[in-house]
Amino acid sequence: MSKLTLPNIIFTIILFCSFCFPPLVSSDNCHSAEKKALLKLKAGFGNPEILNWTSATSCCSWPGVTCLSGRVLSLGLANLSGSISPAIAGLSFLTRLNIEESPNLTGPIPNSITKLPLTYLAIKSTSLSGPIPSFLGDLNKLSLLDLSNNHLTGPIPDSITSLPDLSTLVLSNNKLTGTIPPSLFHGLTSRTSLDLSDNLLTGNVPLSIGDANFEYIYLSGNRFSGDISFLFGDQSKHLTEIDLSRNMFEMNMSSLTFPSPLALMDLSQNIIYGSIPTSITGLEQLTLFNVSYNRLCGRIPTGGRMNLFDASCYVHNKCLCGTPLPSCHA
Ligand SMILES: *[C@@H]1O[C@H](CO)[C@@H](O)[C@H](O)[C@H]1NC(C)=O
Ligand SMILES: *[C@@H]1O[C@H](CO)[C@@H](O)[C@H](O)[C@H]1NC(C)=O
Ligand SMILES: *[C@@H]1O[C@H](CO)[C@@H](O)[C@H](O)[C@H]1NC(C)=O
Ligand SMILES: *[C@@H]1O[C@H](CO)[C@@H](O)[C@H](O)[C@H]1NC(C)=O
Ligand SMILES: *[C@@H]1O[C@H](CO)[C@@H](O)[C@H](O)[C@H]1NC(C)=O
Repeated sequence: MSKLTLPNIIFTIILFCSFCFPPLVSSDNCHSAEKKALLKLKAGFGNPEILNWTSATSCCSWPGVTCLSGRVLSLGLANLSGSISPAIAGLSFLTRLNIEESPNLTGPIPNSITKLPLTYLAIKSTSLSGPIPSFLGDLNKLSLLDLSNNHLTGPIPDSITSLPDLSTLVLSNNKLTGTIPPSLFHGLTSRTSLDLSDNLLTGNVPLSIGDANFEYIYLSGNRFSGDISFLFGDQSKHLTEIDLSRNMFEMNMSSLTFPSPLALMDLSQNIIYGSIPTSITGLEQLTLFNVSYNRLCGRIPTGGRMNLFDASCYVHNKCLCGTPLPSCHA
């Protein structure tokens, strides 16, 4: 007779409870309507060999499928071709959809996707083309939207500015045109990340964007213009990475203040004038700093982490001087 030791009690409870509750992550139950939806989705992708989803097995055991209590919660797929079948709407508990590395996958994103409770939507490195559908603004639980590395054209739709929980927006490496919608991230209090790099976006960055509590902001490789010093203000106390390179931003650097967590600041290839503030030497996390190809002048501050940055970070300015550039005269 076994003694009532603590391990024995725990073992008994586990044994007993495995009969009274269904297992959380099941491998042998799979909602039949969701299995059908997945098989239609697979057909839409041209029944590729890598999706060895067969009706003989539980859909919760299929590669790329994650279930909770027999319902499909998350899909993570790559190397697909064809297109996303509207049948995806049959996965009524789907909160995460991640499709990537699928250069043979073409558009469109089916409208039926708005029926899903998605919080995370990433379709990246595919051949999705055409405009970003404005119906994505109906996915009102969305906190992350990543449509990077596709062939998307047209503007950033206003509709996505009304997504109340959207805190990460990644649209880099497309051919998007137009300006940043003014109320993007409006009223959002959580940390925010924005990556719009390498598009064809134009105009001034709206002042209201400055109210967002940014952790990362990448705007590089566009045609943005205007003064962007407001991004460095007091509200940006969590700003860790800012890449504004390869634009037409125009601002006086002399009076900028820098948030202390700043680790990456690339301002190269803009129209930035004034001088580099000595307060830059107080940034203890700074690992990338580049102000080359601007109109800066004056002595490069020394001390702090400034010895990490070589001449390529300062070349092609109006009259910057001192280490690592040639010394200042007189
Ligand atoms: C399906 O492919 C995965 C690897 O992607 C493999 O682990 C699994 O055994 C395969 N299932 C069947 C039924 O062939
Ligand atoms: C996609 O294909 C590449 C190259 O064939 C392979 O390395 C990778 O594991 C595949 N990914 C998935 C999720 O099947
Ligand atoms: C894309 O299609 C081409 C041509 O049909 C094929 O050679 C290639 O393997 C496909 N790539 C992927 C990732 O499916
Ligand atoms: C930049 O700002 C500094 C300090 O506010 C000021 O002294 C300087 O004249 C300004 N530079 C230009 C070119 O406007
Ligand atoms: C700084 O930026 C310039 C221009 O974009 C680039 O050529 C250079 O390699 C960069 N330096 C570093 C260290 O990244």
